[in-house]
Amino acid sequence: MGFDILLLITIIIIGTLAWGGIRGAPWVPTHRKDESRIVALARPPAGARVADLGCGTGGVLAAFARAGCRVTGWELALVPWCIAWLRLRRFTGSHVRLGDFWGKSLSEFDVVYLFLFPRAYARLAEQLRRELRPGARVLASAWPLPGWDPECVDRAPGRIPIYVYRVPRV
Ligand SMILES: C[S@@+](CC[C@H](N)C(=O)[O-])C[C@H]1O[C@@H](n2cnc3c(N)ncnc32)[C@H](O)[C@@H]1O
Repeated sequence: MGFDILLLITIIIIGTLAWGGIRGAPWVPTHRKDESRIVALARPPAGARVADLGCGTGGVLAAFARAGCRVTGWELALVPWCIAWLRLRRFTGSHVRLGDFWGKSLSEFDVVYLFLFPRAYARLAEQLRRELRPGARVLASAWPLPGWDPECVDRAPGRIPIYVYRVPRV
């Protein structure tokens, strides 16, 4: 492989990682120990549809898929997306999209998981309120979702806080 090709591949890999950081948050995976904790907090019914907006290497989605959920992730960074795609390919009903989650409809999901910068939460708060069905859950890692009242905040010692929200049944 020529130097030019290697350089181009490196630029694409680093460029897509940087683009993810600009569009929502850089790639920092949810800790392995927190994956099952997040599924337990979400309490998804069998066959629930779960989205991870910026799914990284797909660890959280894989935990939901093992619990019998149909999962969808969007990811901008090429290498994390490849890993997530390989990880999730054996689960039927799972989709790992290479692309931007902004502008995508979220109305079909029963659970939406977020681990992004606060500015992305501020932008998503209104869309989630508009599109999610009553009873749907949103789990936000690290920071609260502006304008939403949490059902609970899970602060396990030494672990990242998880804010759990439920769309009210009117
Ligand atoms: C903090 S990491 C969280 C990864 C994963 N959700 C997890 O918990 O392990 C945020 C990820 O979101 C991706 N991302 C940020 N903005 C995005 C966007 N607008 N569309 C798709 N992916 C995005 C980044 O590339 C990064 O991999």
